Amino acid sequence: MMKEIIAVKEITQFKTRAEEFSPYAWCKEKLENDPVSYHEGTNTWNVFKYEHVKLVLSDYKHFSSERKRTTISVGADSKEGSVPDKIKLTEADPPDHRKRRSLLAAAFTPRSLKNWEPRIQEIADELIEQMEGKSEIDIVSSLASPLPIIVMSDLMGVPSKDRLLFKEWVDILFLPFDKETQDEVNEKKIVAAREYYEYLYPIVVQKRSNPADDIISDLLQAEVDGEMFTDDEVVRTTMLILGAGVETTSHLLANSFYSLLYDDDTVYQELHENLDLVPQAVEEMLRYRFNLTKLDRMVSVDNDLLGVKLKKGDTVVAWMSAANMDEDMFEDAFTLNIHRPNNKKHLAFGNGPHFCLGAPLARLEAKIALTTFLKEFNKIEPVASFQLEDHLTDSATGQTLTSMPLIVHRTL
Ligand code: HEM
Repeated sequence: MMKEIIAVKEITQFKTRAEEFSPYAWCKEKLENDPVSYHEGTNTWNVFKYEHVKLVLSDYKHFSSERKRTTISVGADSKEGSVPDKIKLTEADPPDHRKRRSLLAAAFTPRSLKNWEPRIQEIADELIEQMEGKSEIDIVSSLASPLPIIVMSDLMGVPSKDRLLFKEWVDILFLPFDKETQDEVNEKKIVAAREYYEYLYPIVVQKRSNPADDIISDLLQAEVDGEMFTDDEVVRTTMLILGAGVETTSHLLANSFYSLLYDDDTVYQELHENLDLVPQAVEEMLRYRFNLTKLDRMVSVDNDLLGVKLKKGDTVVAWMSAANMDEDMFEDAFTLNIHRPNNKKHLAFGNGPHFCLGAPLARLEAKIALTTFLKEFNKIEPVASFQLEDHLTDSATGQTLTSMPLIVHRTL
């Protein structure tokens, strides 16, 4: 059964998509005036300060991931579209969580990452080559949106001719839900999940007898405490990986270009002249822009760790978006500063036992994509007619740019 979806829009009350895309004023207001607050309409506690958000995400003994309600829902309400119990790591607490995470982690070792680097570079080169001869490009459709899904399908070992098919399913599977559209969206997802399953299952079976250097083969060989995945479980586990790793990374890429154009237009030049600064710029984009803005947990033991009386069963929403703007943690937090010494301390990848398993991969994809782009173009400029509000849409994790044109000048 699907979990109850918490309507976060009732909590934020944003008037426009642009406000949700850049909720600096809202974060400031919450941090200053309402850092731990109860929201009656959704029956949730909401926390915004860095120390509170970190505590809620990491203290699994008091704030459990085994919950009945959630702010985020991906996948479909069907057997094919759901993650197998063995791997439901986002909904488990230690010690159960450890085993599930280890099974999945078998496919995300540092060695895998090293092997993947040239493949990701090749995909970035290919996408940037396709920009040849153009003076204006849409960075979303040409780079931010295709790169993560092509990378994931390639790393999973899906034949390259089927990448687009793959993308169509993934786009449907991770459409956003809200209370009103839940049934309609779920119908579409169930169909996509079935098609996806029927497509991938024979590939998994074939890889069991002919393993290759890819994520599916790694999952087929993973073993923790004598336990292994069945073919069916591998197919459904890939759904979790895609759900966690595709749209989030597309957001990061699109948001980074937005920052370079509109938050501080001097940074592009600085990065172009010193490509070694790219990794720390990526960290600052993760802190300063809004990727996955919040997570939720269920109170498992009555406590007052947040300074209010919390009862077992209460829902707590932890807003990483605001925590990353907390002046008690980040000096001059509302300014983009790629030289910030502690910007890696952002909470965009969560914290504690559930810290993002794909963070090294997301960082690598962003580094390669930005570096390859920076080498090709020595200057970028915004397009004067661009109106942010018209280029945004709801997504499973927040506001996504649907397109963003920019003018490019090639390095001679
Ligand atoms: C910029 C891109 C990304 C962001 C912002 C992001 C964010 C997050 C966050 C906040 C969590 C913590 C969830 C929780 O505490 O309940 C998480 C968990 C996770 N992420 Fe990511 N993620 C990104 C990319 C990826 C990629 C590329 C992959 C894999 C391909 C991935 C796989 C996972 C998995 C498997 C978990 C669950 C870990 C667990 O519950 O132990 N993520 N991610």
